[in-house]
Amino acid sequence: MNQLMIRDVRILDPVNEVDRIGTLWIREGRIAEAFEPDGDTVVIDGAGLTAAPGLIDLHVHLRDPGQTEKEDILSGCRAAAAGGVTQLLAMPNTRPAVDTPETVRYILEKAKNADARVHVVGAITKGLGGHEATDIGALYEAGIAALSDDGVPVLDTSIMVAAMQKAAEAEMDIPVTAHCEDPYLAGGKVNEGAVSRSLGVKGMPCAAEDAGTARELALAESYHLPIHICHVSTATSAAMIRAAKQRGVRVTAETAPHYLMLTEQELLRRDADFRMNPPLRTETDRLAMIEALRDGTIDAIATDHAPHTPQEKADFVHAPNGSIGMETSFAAAYTVLVEGNILTEGELIRKMSVHPARILRTYGGTLAVGTPADVMLYRKEAWTVDPQKLHGKSRNTPFKGLTLAAKVKMTIYGGRIVFDEWR
Ligand code: DOR
Repeated sequence: MNQLMIRDVRILDPVNEVDRIGTLWIREGRIAEAFEPDGDTVVIDGAGLTAAPGLIDLHVHLRDPGQTEKEDILSGCRAAAAGGVTQLLAMPNTRPAVDTPETVRYILEKAKNADARVHVVGAITKGLGGHEATDIGALYEAGIAALSDDGVPVLDTSIMVAAMQKAAEAEMDIPVTAHCEDPYLAGGKVNEGAVSRSLGVKGMPCAAEDAGTARELALAESYHLPIHICHVSTATSAAMIRAAKQRGVRVTAETAPHYLMLTEQELLRRDADFRMNPPLRTETDRLAMIEALRDGTIDAIATDHAPHTPQEKADFVHAPNGSIGMETSFAAAYTVLVEGNILTEGELIRKMSVHPARILRTYGGTLAVGTPADVMLYRKEAWTVDPQKLHGKSRNTPFKGLTLAAKVKMTIYGGRIVFDEWR
């Protein structure tokens, strides 16, 4: 399939200030000028649909190698496609961790046949152990696109600084993404406060995240180095990032749809699908995330897609942290932010495609002629999330049973239809 013609579609390309109804042309994997359709041209009726740049998810756990019963590279990318995600950043807490060139090459090789572009994060410390630096140069040669110990913080602060310095060198220029958490305050099950007390489980205090955020901001500021802060969930961390940006610190940040839509109150059901790290927080924190997105403190929305099996999630207290999110991220963010009149659709596309492309120094975030044809087609439509109908391997979504206000209907990756709800 070489040519696509999407007729009567609303073309939304905020970077190029395009928002009009017309025909979107795709030829040889790229957005094209209008051409003469031939017998092989696939014609799509885009009436009622909006075509936007494919989403770029900066925070995904693909579980491959090592835990492919939860997800693998191909299933994770099918989930991505079903959510309009055409590029994703895969975190290094696999088994083994992504701390050798061999593992980087394994992921990139397997991802060649996937339904989305996989960018690989290299670990900063061996086995994410926090104390022994990886060979960043060798990982970069093998093809990593970012550095992080995500899942855990980099325990040895001096190794973190060295990684930030190396990543910022002109010949490398890749982001370092920080999982902010004080290891000595970590380890709780839900947000610390009224809900943790009512459930009788150990809490994770906001201070654990905030102390981690403060450390990374201090490093970025003192050494004049860029940092990307992952999965912001607390009002205090958002305030610190806002103040740091005002001082000119080179910081970017992401939050996740569950922090925009849900609070710790959900945990009272004792359902581990609502347990993740950082945990769902209070209504005050939720509103602070929304405000931080609105005012530009938080640049991006990423999912922290973290698949776990139903067996693991069956035990509320002992289940591992994490929830899946790629198939619902746009719909959930749209519901809160666009329906809530916080962001326009164009601004939402900036948070989910344009800014992630910049943070990752990758292509995308545009529908300009000549760029790779990564496109998502969506429409305003009420639908209820049914975990059984999702496309990845795991079912641990905290959005189950919720009715969302927009739906991804088709995704095109490199000119190929990788998801078509009608097919
Ligand atoms: O909830 C989480 N799940 N937070 C993390 O930091 C890691 C992730 C996972 O890998 O399951």
